[in-house]
Amino acid sequence: MKEIRTADALNERTAFENRLRPKDFEGFVGQTKIRERLMLAVHAAKERGESLDHVLFSGPPGLGKTTLSFILGEAMGVNVKTTSGPVISKPGDLAGLLTSLEPGDIVFIDEIHRMAKTVEEYLYSAMEDYTIDIMIDQGPNARSVRLELPRFTLVGATTRIGLIAAPLRARFGLVNRLSYYEAPDLAEIVKRSAARLGVDVDPDGAMEIASRSRGTPRIANNLLRRVRDYAQVKAGNFVTGQVAREALSMLEIDPHGLDEMDRNILETICVKFGGGPVGLSTIAVSVGEEPDTIEEAYEPFLIMEGYLERTPKGRVATPLAYERMGIIK
Ligand SMILES: Nc1ncnc2c1ncn2[C@@H]1O[C@H](COP(=O)(O)OP(=O)(O)O)[C@@H](O)[C@H]1O
Ligand SMILES: [Mg+2]
Repeated sequence: MKEIRTADALNERTAFENRLRPKDFEGFVGQTKIRERLMLAVHAAKERGESLDHVLFSGPPGLGKTTLSFILGEAMGVNVKTTSGPVISKPGDLAGLLTSLEPGDIVFIDEIHRMAKTVEEYLYSAMEDYTIDIMIDQGPNARSVRLELPRFTLVGATTRIGLIAAPLRARFGLVNRLSYYEAPDLAEIVKRSAARLGVDVDPDGAMEIASRSRGTPRIANNLLRRVRDYAQVKAGNFVTGQVAREALSMLEIDPHGLDEMDRNILETICVKFGGGPVGLSTIAVSVGEEPDTIEEAYEPFLIMEGYLERTPKGRVATPLAYERMGIIK
């Protein structure tokens, strides 16, 4: 879905997203195992009167990493301070952030794989011993000062788990990999979001939106928003399956939720490489994307949907891929 990236449009999108963000575990649909594991950890930590273990969330964009971080804050009854990997560029930035915390607070570092390596090393002692050694002054006066930190919880989020160094990963007590959502869960999310937005959706309408959402709640909510406009103008604010189909086909949304890169990848394998097997790096060069990104952000969805198989010799397109791409083998 192409959207113009003006500041206004971005702000509006963020506001929309925050409005639909569930505030507690109750409102968080799907990912049952992760949810239960986190609820248990919260329960145990509160019972002991301790801070929560450090938590890492990984997975493609839009699956609920940020949402879960705020839910954890709410459940623990602590503040959540948010920042992101690229923003903390110097050890001093990190020290400033960590020394400003109250005991038990959560520090949420989004895109933690993009944090500078020099800063990352300071994070190790902060996470483990709740201390940070900072160099002050320069030249002959340079010396290191140890700062004591309050017991805090680091919550990291990443779309690229492969880029997290082993020593950092090892310091997270709870490592959670979010996976794509099944259509019934997405339909449930659409229903709840619709209720918050004040638009009526029947089960058929919810399912229609869900099945085009690429397994991703963020996409489901965005599609709902577009369908809502259509329903408001053309269908008395009521989204049936038929209304959703009309709206989504008018917007040229792929009926199976494939985005442009998904299609590029499948087309490359089917047409350029005769269906495979073809190696990941060859595909990457061909579609102009990083191999890691393809492996972590695109392939899991394509494999889950049955378009692609991983074999020892490389990636192979399935008959379903040919069918969906309208290519004759
Ligand atoms: N399990 C879920 N249940 C309900 N809504 C969800 C769920 N996961 C994500 N969302 C919604 O999808 C949007 C994107 O979620 P977000 O947490 O920002 O994703 P991420 O941080 O992984 O990119 C938000 O509006 C959020 O409320
Ligand atoms: Mg996020």
